[in-house]
Amino acid sequence: MSDQELFPLSDEHKMIRQAARDFARKEIAPIAAEFDESGEFPMETVRKMGELGFMGIIVPEEYKGAGMDALSYVLAVEEISKADGSHGVIVSVNNSLFCDGILVYGTEEQKQKYVAGVASGKKIGAYALTEPMSGSDAGTMGCQAVREGDEYILNGLKSWVTSGPVADYVMVFMMTAPEKKHKGITAFIVESGTPGFSPGKKEPKLGIRASATSELMFKNCRIPADNRVGKEGEGFKIAMSILDSGRIGIAAQSLGLAEAAYEASLAYASEREAFGQKIGDFQGVSFKLADMKTQIEGSRLLTYNAALVKDRSKESGERYTLPAAIAKLHASETAMFCTHSAVQIHGGVGYSKELPVERYFRDAKITEIYEGTSEIQRLVIARTEFDRLR
Ligand code: CAA
Repeated sequence: MSDQELFPLSDEHKMIRQAARDFARKEIAPIAAEFDESGEFPMETVRKMGELGFMGIIVPEEYKGAGMDALSYVLAVEEISKADGSHGVIVSVNNSLFCDGILVYGTEEQKQKYVAGVASGKKIGAYALTEPMSGSDAGTMGCQAVREGDEYILNGLKSWVTSGPVADYVMVFMMTAPEKKHKGITAFIVESGTPGFSPGKKEPKLGIRASATSELMFKNCRIPADNRVGKEGEGFKIAMSILDSGRIGIAAQSLGLAEAAYEASLAYASEREAFGQKIGDFQGVSFKLADMKTQIEGSRLLTYNAALVKDRSKESGERYTLPAAIAKLHASETAMFCTHSAVQIHGGVGYSKELPVERYFRDAKITEIYEGTSEIQRLVIARTEFDRLR
C-alpha cells in the first residue's frame, strides 16, 4: 500500500513490519498448510521466531525481550497471521497473556526466572483461566488453591489453554476464597513437570490447528508460595487486565487473517473470467471487495490505536479496556466477514484445500470466540459507556 497508508508509521515500525513480513513469507507460509493438516505444533519456527525477538517483542531487553512498543507487537502479529493464524496466536499468547501479566504484576524474581526464558523463545508460556463450566463467566471458577505453610496446593481442571500441551510455564487462576466469589481468585505460575500438574485432552479444532490447545489438570499439585502473582484475591483483576492486552493481540491476528483473505480475493478477481469478463468487473464482486477493504482499514485504525493507548497507559496507569474491546470486536468480525467473502469470491477453489483461503476461513472463526466472545466485547463496551454517564 506504501504511500496510500491511512496510518502513518515511523521508519522503525516499517522496518519491524518488513522483518516480520519477510520471515512469515519465507519460513511460515510454506509450512502452514502441512501443519494445519497434521495439527502438529510448529516448534522449529517458534524457536526461530524466538531468536528473531518475536516471542518477546514487548518485553524489555533486561528480561531478554526485544524491548519494543505495543504497535511493533501488533505489526508483527499481523504479518505473521497473514501467513498463518496459528503462528499468530502462539506469538500473541506468549507476549501478552504470559509475559505482559508477569511484567505488570510479577516480582523481580518472577520476571528474571519466567519472563526471560519465555521472551527468548527458549521456553513457552500459557494462560489458564477458562474451565469446562466457566468460560464467559470467568469469575465463577471451580479450581481451588489452598495455602499450606510456604506452599499452595492446586486442584482442578482448566480447559481451552492455548499452547497448553507445550508450555513450560503457565499463569493459572484459582479460587483461594470461594465465598468471596471473584474477589477470592488468585494468580499463580506453575512450571511443567511439577508433580500433580499435567496436560489433559488436546482439543481437535476447526481452525488454528497448529496451535496446541488443551486441558490442564491439577491434582494436589504443590507449588512454592513465591509463585503467587500479586496478592491473594487480586487474581480476577489481574486476569481481566491481562486480557485487555491479549485482545489487542487477537485484533492484530484478525487483521492479518482478513488481509490475507482480501489480497487473495483481489488477485483472483482480477484474473478469473466468467461470462466474458474478469469477475472483478462485476459489481457484485467489486462491491464485496470494496466492503472488505473498508472493514480492514477500520480494523487497522482501531487496532493500531489500541496499541498506542496501551503504550500511553504505562505512564498514566489508565485502563485501556475500551479501545482493546472495540478493536477486538471490529477486527474479529472483519476477519470472519473477509474470509467468508473470500471463499465465496473464489467459488469451488475457495472451498478446496488446494488454496489457503478455506484455512483462513476456518482460522478466523476462533477470533470471535477466544479471549472474550464478540458478545462479551459488546457487554464490556456497553458497560463502559453507561459507567461514563454515571
Ligand atoms: N481490568 C481491571 N479490572 C477489571 C477489568 C479489567 N479489564 N474488568 C473488570 N475488572 C474488575 C472490575 O472493576 C470489578 O472490580 P470490583 O470488584 O472492585 O468492583 C471486578 O473486576 C469484577 O468486574 P465485573 O463486575 O465487570 O465482573 P463480571 O463478573 O460481570 O465479568 C466480564 C466481567 C467482562 C464478563 C468478564 O468475566 C470477562 O471478560 N469474561 C470473558 C472471559 C474471557 O475473555 N475468557 C477468555 C480466556 S483466555 C482464552 O480464550 C484461551 C487462550 O488461551 C487464548
